[in-house]
Amino acid sequence: MTGSANPTLIPLLYLVSAVLFIVGLKGLTRVRTARRGNAISSLAMLLAIVATLLELGTFSPTWILLGIVIGGAIGSITAVRVQMTAMPEMVALLNGCGGGASVLVALSVIWERIIEPRSRATLAGGEFNTVAITTLLSVIIGSVTLTGSVVAFLKLRGWISGQPILLPGRHVLNALLLLGSIGLAGYFVATGAAAGNLGLIALAVCGLTLFLGILLVIPIGGADMPVVISLLNSYSGLAACATGFVLSNNVLIISGALVGASGLILTQIMCKAMNRSLANVLFGGFGAQETDSGASKNARDYGPVKSYSAEEAALVLESVESVIFVPGYGLAVAQAQHIVRDLAELLQKRGVDVKYAIHPVAGRMPGHMNVLLAEADVPYEQLVEMEAINSEFRNTDVAMVVGANDVVNPAATKDSNSPIYGMPILEVHNAGTVMIIKRSLSPGFAGIKNELFEYDNTLMLFGDAKKMLQDLVAELKEAD
Ligand code: TAP
Repeated sequence: MTGSANPTLIPLLYLVSAVLFIVGLKGLTRVRTARRGNAISSLAMLLAIVATLLELGTFSPTWILLGIVIGGAIGSITAVRVQMTAMPEMVALLNGCGGGASVLVALSVIWERIIEPRSRATLAGGEFNTVAITTLLSVIIGSVTLTGSVVAFLKLRGWISGQPILLPGRHVLNALLLLGSIGLAGYFVATGAAAGNLGLIALAVCGLTLFLGILLVIPIGGADMPVVISLLNSYSGLAACATGFVLSNNVLIISGALVGASGLILTQIMCKAMNRSLANVLFGGFGAQETDSGASKNARDYGPVKSYSAEEAALVLESVESVIFVPGYGLAVAQAQHIVRDLAELLQKRGVDVKYAIHPVAGRMPGHMNVLLAEADVPYEQLVEMEAINSEFRNTDVAMVVGANDVVNPAATKDSNSPIYGMPILEVHNAGTVMIIKRSLSPGFAGIKNELFEYDNTLMLFGDAKKMLQDLVAELKEAD
């Protein structure tokens, strides 16, 4: 960057901004401090923008203001209107914007510093290499992130099939695209000004990697999309980091590295919680395998199950001493977080010990259940992580499963042929009685049968989670 207005103030602002990004990120690791963490990170971003404008010195305020007003309006309206269940889609779009921005900045730098001056003579040899390598890296990672995120968004929105689309020879094609783009980038760097048309080569690298982004995400199935989105989030950070090197902007390097590292850590946590390797997520075509497997075909093939009405279930609840609620994706769909808290409070007033069991991949995004329950002001102390609560089910009268399925499926521990075998589960089957609120015997995200529904101690409460919980609350109130 050039033209600094104040050589001491600007680095200081960047430093404060970088520190605030780190403090903000730390705040996001706990529900209690997440809001503050978000606010601190926003402040960091504001400081970074101010410092960048000061560093630019002369700029057109009209363009900057237009960008802030239009971008700010789109961001605020979308953030206010987005449904919690659509959050992964929103994150996918934001990742795509990050990747796209990195590509545009990198291409414009290639144009401004390499192509327009028409000769590498304007850049000393070493400097040419640095600019060329960092910009092309930014183009490659940013392009994959952009189209990969768009495909992820379209899949989650249901505008294209959420199932894995497995093209024949896709691994070879992907390898060719990757090698082709790296080869072209290498040619760009090696030949420099001697190359006939560096602009075309840069655009070709961009085109190949845009295509690669599509092909990399198309074969990934619905259940794995959150993992892919987290990975793309990491890519968008890496692209921003590379752009930081392009622009010699430290705060962009630091914040990009933070996003890159945290996205990667989150991806790893999710893979571990599902007992899958990252390679299996990226190349396995998870949903497609299941569609062909016996597990999926038998997903609705059940023996007799015990179906209870709200009235009958309330009679059971009237005489219990301990209840553990197990929220899952269905709770989010039904938006039943407030009514589940009402039922919990009602039970507590009757002297029942109440807790919530949180599985790390319940729902569709990391921390999904924590966020939902926090939104309903459920006391944070009542939320217990899987490892801590599993031993408690044995001494619990009722495990009430609300819209969860895969995360309580005993097949994960028993059936070595099951696609979810090895995934740690919430061991609700050990509770005295298991009540499962869901609308039907339909499978969860993994698309497989759950034999828990047939267990002797399981009672199925068929219905929409919100409606069923409302009925339970009404029944218990009537009994008071
Ligand atoms: P799922 O296994 O997906 O099951 C959700 C259940 O909710 C369904 O069986 C559905 O049954 C029920 N449901 C849907 N709408 C409902 C409503 N309105 N009222 C009541 N029930 C409703 O959910 P889970 O147990 O939370 O497991 C999460 C899955 O997502 C796991 O397979 C996990 O690996 C995967 N996953 C999660 C993440 C993260 S980070 N959370 C990331 C990647 C993958 P009905 O249709 O019969 O109602």
